[in-house]
Amino acid sequence: MRALVCTRLGELELLDLPSPRPGPGEVVVEVSHIGLNFHDTLIVAGRHVVRPEPPFSPGSEYAGTVVAVGAGVRSVGVGDRVTGNEEYGCARETVVVRADRVTVLPDHVPDRQAAAILVAYSTAYHALVQRAGLRAGETLAVLGAAGGVGSAAVDVGNLLGARVIAGASTVDRANSARGYGAHEAFSYGDTDAKTAIKDLTGGGADVVFDPVGGAVGEAAVRAVAWEGRYLVVGFASGDIPRLGLNIPLVKGSSVVGVFFGEFVRRAREAHEANLRVIFEWAGAGRLRHRVHDILPLAEGRRALDDLAAGKVEGKLLLRVTA
Ligand SMILES: NC(=O)c1ccc[n+]([C@@H]2O[C@H](COP(=O)([O-])OP(=O)(O)OC[C@H]3O[C@@H](n4cnc5c(N)ncnc54)[C@H](OP(=O)(O)O)[C@@H]3O)[C@@H](O)[C@H]2O)c1
Repeated sequence: MRALVCTRLGELELLDLPSPRPGPGEVVVEVSHIGLNFHDTLIVAGRHVVRPEPPFSPGSEYAGTVVAVGAGVRSVGVGDRVTGNEEYGCARETVVVRADRVTVLPDHVPDRQAAAILVAYSTAYHALVQRAGLRAGETLAVLGAAGGVGSAAVDVGNLLGARVIAGASTVDRANSARGYGAHEAFSYGDTDAKTAIKDLTGGGADVVFDPVGGAVGEAAVRAVAWEGRYLVVGFASGDIPRLGLNIPLVKGSSVVGVFFGEFVRRAREAHEANLRVIFEWAGAGRLRHRVHDILPLAEGRRALDDLAAGKVEGKLLLRVTA
């Protein structure tokens, strides 16, 4: 089977490897699509908290069909269409994964859509529902709103009944977030994020969703309303914001961490319940996610370069065996 392999940090090659066999409690999935995420670029570069030793395959979310099951597996069978996420290792024609980490796909969710929404939408939903307790009618400011998790947060926030304010580095990118359901848009390329969010919310956002960090995050944390929640999602800017603890004190606000992968490991059933809601929205045609492009596995290196260079709007997928 062909696999995209990081042979040295920063280096990717397409290699032929032996097909895997399932051990007890494992299944082998023939992967049809994988969804790429910004963190894949960080893992390949050795700049993520998850630091596998090469050789390893990147790719943390996939959809495909079960082709073999190991001893003791009852929850899924050969022929089931499934999706799942791992820390890395999915950019291969076949992957071997633990059976209790795969989710059987409903008929109305095609593989391509599953690979496009799994991580971004589950992260956004977990952040907004379990971590922020976002309520209908509240204001939600999303930074990096044209990006992967950002656009999902705009869409999910809107579906949960929030008034969504989308921020991005350019006016065009901010306006593109209106296509995901944003009610207002602002660019922090030419306006200070604190002023823009305060102006658009009439004093401060109930929830700020921040996958960007850096100076923009430092400004946005000052635009949280009384008893608001600032969600620490990621640092796509490359800088971790510094925060004076006087800010949550004077606002009665909370700074809340979001770690989707750990949530899935620790609270599998809650994650599955979140996915049921997301798949129901998908079936009803209510998701506004956008696929930027679908490239063959052999183009994986270019795909990750484009992602790292910020050239991607919406989701970038790799077509593996479909
Ligand atoms: N906490 C979790 O559980 C979790 C789960 C998934 C992802 N994440 C993290 O969330 C972050 C975003 O992931 P993603 O997949 O949404 O990535 P993405 O689509 O590539 O980037 C998100 C946004 O960040 C901004 N950005 C990217 N590179 C930048 C740079 N060099 N300088 C300044 N801004 C930059 C861009 O927005 P603008 O240019 O418009 O500002 C981009 O749209 C990553 O750090 C990822 O690791 C965290």
